[in-house]
Amino acid sequence: MNSKITIAGVEFKNPVMTASGTFGSGREYGEYMDLNQLGAVVVKGVAITPWKGNPAPRIAETYGGMLNSVGLQNPGVEAFIENDIPFLRQYDTKIIVNIAGRTIEEYCQVAERLGEVDVDLLELNISCPNVKEGGVAFGTDPFMVEKVTKEVKKYSKQPLIVKLSPNVTDITEMARAAESGGADGLSLINTLLGMAIDIYRRKPVLAMKVGGFSGPAIKPVALRMVYQVNKAVNLPIIGMGGIMTGEDAIEFIMAGATGVAVGTAHFNNPRASLEVVEGIQKYMDTYGVKDLAEIRGII
Ligand SMILES: Cc1cc2nc3c(=O)[nH]c(=O)nc-3n(C[C@H](O)[C@H](O)[C@H](O)COP(=O)(O)O)c2cc1C
Repeated sequence: MNSKITIAGVEFKNPVMTASGTFGSGREYGEYMDLNQLGAVVVKGVAITPWKGNPAPRIAETYGGMLNSVGLQNPGVEAFIENDIPFLRQYDTKIIVNIAGRTIEEYCQVAERLGEVDVDLLELNISCPNVKEGGVAFGTDPFMVEKVTKEVKKYSKQPLIVKLSPNVTDITEMARAAESGGADGLSLINTLLGMAIDIYRRKPVLAMKVGGFSGPAIKPVALRMVYQVNKAVNLPIIGMGGIMTGEDAIEFIMAGATGVAVGTAHFNNPRASLEVVEGIQKYMDTYGVKDLAEIRGII
């Protein structure tokens, strides 16, 4: 049984990746699992200069998921290149760098700098709900989605995956805009905008009041969006949103995803992504699926 996949000409040993921001650059997880078993490590959003992130509290647990307002805290692209790339390159897994920016120019600068470095793909995060500028402000307007994709593409040496926000009425409109801008693939979904209130303190739980909602509770929304986008565009999709098991991942593949990313599940079980790799393999063996292409997008 072969669980290899190809996205924009890059071959992955299996479809399972780590969702950006939930796995650091893999260092923290190395003692729980063998990173060589993963299709790819997708690192936390990296910006041109260091970002401090948002004030605490910035994490809250909810039924079936969590809220976060971390706000793209990161050490900046130079520190990332110096510390994290050599660490990740020790492993036989692909590296996808999630890029963040406040302006189109900042995204372009990060993409250009990463062009000089040995990484496999870039993931353009225009869907973070936790930053005032850039982030979701770009990802909810089809004109801006196309524009930022087109500009960043000019500076990207590696294939460019555009990460879409679910906080829109029609996700297919954003997917088509990214395709027109020259995206080589799409990732979806980022977090849904959510809120929790502490009724005893009469205050929002998060210091930022609202944050990104993720985890198993959002899986039906994510699946629906992957399904719709797969029908609307001709680009490979990395599907994510609430994947906890191999069976969840198979649902995303049947809805049209080529790759799958595991995010919030890591906070519950640091080995979650490896268990998803094993679960996919078990499904393939049990049901005689020789290649994932046989079941991709069959719904
Ligand atoms: C704590 C946290 C930090 C995140 N940081 C990023 C980020 O830096 N860039 C990004 O594109 N998505 C980020 N995300 C979104 C995830 O990559 C993923 O799209 C989302 O959480 C849905 O998947 P899940 O339900 O499996 O977590 C973050 C999510 C969480 C929970």
